[in-house]
Amino acid sequence: MKTNDQNGNGKDNETRTEQALRASEISYRRLFEAAKDGILILDADTGRINDVNPFLFNLLGFSRSDMVGKTVGELSPFKDMESNKVMLERLQKDGYVRYEDLPLETRDGRRIAVEFVSNVYQVGDHDVIQCNVRDITERKAAEKERSRLAAIIEWSDDAIVSITANGIVIGWNHGAERLYGYTAEEMIGRSISILFPPDHYREYLRIMKEVKDGKSVPSFDTVRQRKDGTLINVSVGITPIETLEGEIVGASKNSHDITRIKKLQAQFIEAQKMEVIGQLAGGVAHDFNNILGVIIGYSDLVVAELSPDGPGQKYVEEIRHAAERATGLTRQLLAFSRKQTVQPVVLDLNDTVIDLDKMLRRLIDENIEMVIVPGKEIGRIKADPGYIGQVLMNLVVNARDAMPNGGKLTITTTNVTLDESYVRTHTGTIPGDYVMLSVSDTGTGMTDELKARMFEAFFTTKPKGKGTGLGLVTCQTIVQQSGGYISFDSEVGKGTIFRIYFPRVEQPIDILTKLDETSSLPRGTETLLVVEDDPSLRYLACAVLEAQGYKVLRASNGQDALHVAREHKGLPISLVIADVIMPLMGGKVMVEWLKTTYPDLKILFTSGYTDDALFRYGVQEEGVKFLPKPYPQVALLRKIRAMLDNKTDTAMIRK
Ligand SMILES: Nc1ncnc2c1ncn2[C@@H]1O[C@H](COP(=O)(O)OP(=O)(O)OP(=O)(O)O)[C@@H](O)[C@H]1O
Ligand SMILES: [Mg+2]
Repeated sequence: MKTNDQNGNGKDNETRTEQALRASEISYRRLFEAAKDGILILDADTGRINDVNPFLFNLLGFSRSDMVGKTVGELSPFKDMESNKVMLERLQKDGYVRYEDLPLETRDGRRIAVEFVSNVYQVGDHDVIQCNVRDITERKAAEKERSRLAAIIEWSDDAIVSITANGIVIGWNHGAERLYGYTAEEMIGRSISILFPPDHYREYLRIMKEVKDGKSVPSFDTVRQRKDGTLINVSVGITPIETLEGEIVGASKNSHDITRIKKLQAQFIEAQKMEVIGQLAGGVAHDFNNILGVIIGYSDLVVAELSPDGPGQKYVEEIRHAAERATGLTRQLLAFSRKQTVQPVVLDLNDTVIDLDKMLRRLIDENIEMVIVPGKEIGRIKADPGYIGQVLMNLVVNARDAMPNGGKLTITTTNVTLDESYVRTHTGTIPGDYVMLSVSDTGTGMTDELKARMFEAFFTTKPKGKGTGLGLVTCQTIVQQSGGYISFDSEVGKGTIFRIYFPRVEQPIDILTKLDETSSLPRGTETLLVVEDDPSLRYLACAVLEAQGYKVLRASNGQDALHVAREHKGLPISLVIADVIMPLMGGKVMVEWLKTTYPDLKILFTSGYTDDALFRYGVQEEGVKFLPKPYPQVALLRKIRAMLDNKTDTAMIRK
């Protein structure tokens, strides 16, 4: 029973094994047929194809019968592969061959890339080779795209930096190397915090928080520190790096240098500021100058009335002194805003500097030694002597302030020739012959930061009330107006030197009629007409002129003047003193009317307005006399006398 049983069971077992085998064969066959990788079975001895699955013959554009029975080498797609023989030898030796990236050409000529793995195994007493062929064409295309993107990032001009959520650098492209000065080797693995200047630590904390929270930060302008310590203006944007699973693993920072843009922006803002200040100054100056003229003029009249020994005299002189200081300030404001009338004359800079010597010495303290070293046979220049005084005054006061404990202040003049090599290194300069005026001190000197800002309007390091920050910008404006240049050298703890270059001219020196206040005031008996809309100024001018013997007619505007002239009986009017800009009828039109009655009429225009405005009103013609406001009364008297006597008064006449 037992045996039977066993026998019976034995038969059953056999059938079951056969069945199982068949089932397994079927399922392997299905796998083979349905696989999404190519499978090739070769006879190990002959190298001929025993079987090929549909994926592979379809991929290559063949049918199964096209391939079975052939060697691999006989099939066109594999013609670039190492020869069948070599592959077979390798397989026999190692039992395994692998090609990572094998280029194949399909029957219809498409290029594809495959990964090719083959190994040898035994089936019964036979060796077979199984080759697995995987199409990697798409993967390769994606890889190529990735490396193209990587190259774009790597060679981008922008600095592209990747960091972990803790701020450790994991990516650093060439742009970053160039912008920050650190190489990738130096930065990878280090904290990004070293790029932040010490006073930007809060910004660092804020950014790291955003990075941890996976937020992106839109581009913003900030400052970073390069490896060499210099600070640069950059625009930075931050994007979180997320894994496919959505986990934040860090951030990518994109930044570029905006130092040049910042500089241009600053220049633009500065230019706008100057423009606004210029307009303001020009607008106010007219009235302000009139007011100062009145104060100074009446002070003079009062002084003349008072006894020379009484205390009143001193008080009035103080008033006059204060008004003169205010005039200086207005002049400064006007000069820097280019709104003041320039009266350039041909002069010898040595004469001008020596004339100013006394005035400049009054500005400095006793602990400062001031030396003037006039150059020998220096050339002539064309400039407004008043302006040169202003430039020197500003430079001397700055030098004084830079030497609170005393020192040496040197003013020199010398001929220089700016050659090509100078011009190349100093933008905006033209080669040629110049006369240089230098002012040097042994004071505190300036830091680079200060040097960068000192020509800015209203930039000052001085306490309130001591400096307005207009000094150097005024000097620069004045020097540029006369076609010159200003340059400087300064070293902290050693001192500063300013050099001003005025172009040399060949014309002869204009004879300056200096206003010698000690000589007696000129008098006259002619009939004059004063046209001035400001009542105080009109009254003042009339009072001064009458005091010197003139017969004076007065009018408050152009129309009024025509009326006064028409009604006037007696000696003809010899000269008109007229404000250029007045309500109802301006000076220019009025004069044209008056000339129809008085063809020989002499005209002296006065104005606190700018060169530009005067051009518009047409008074800057050859031969027209002009007196800028505010003017000292003595200047008015001398000017009128010179005009009536047909003398030239070069210092006051526009060329
Ligand atoms: N010779 C110098 N030595 C050291 N620092 C100087 C010198 N000249 C100018 N500076 C610096 O440049 C700044 C600007 O000078 P600037 O003459 O324009 O204005 P200011 O002297 O401050 O005021 P203001 O001239 O209007 O009274 C000064 O505040 C000072 O810091
Ligand atoms: Mg100054």
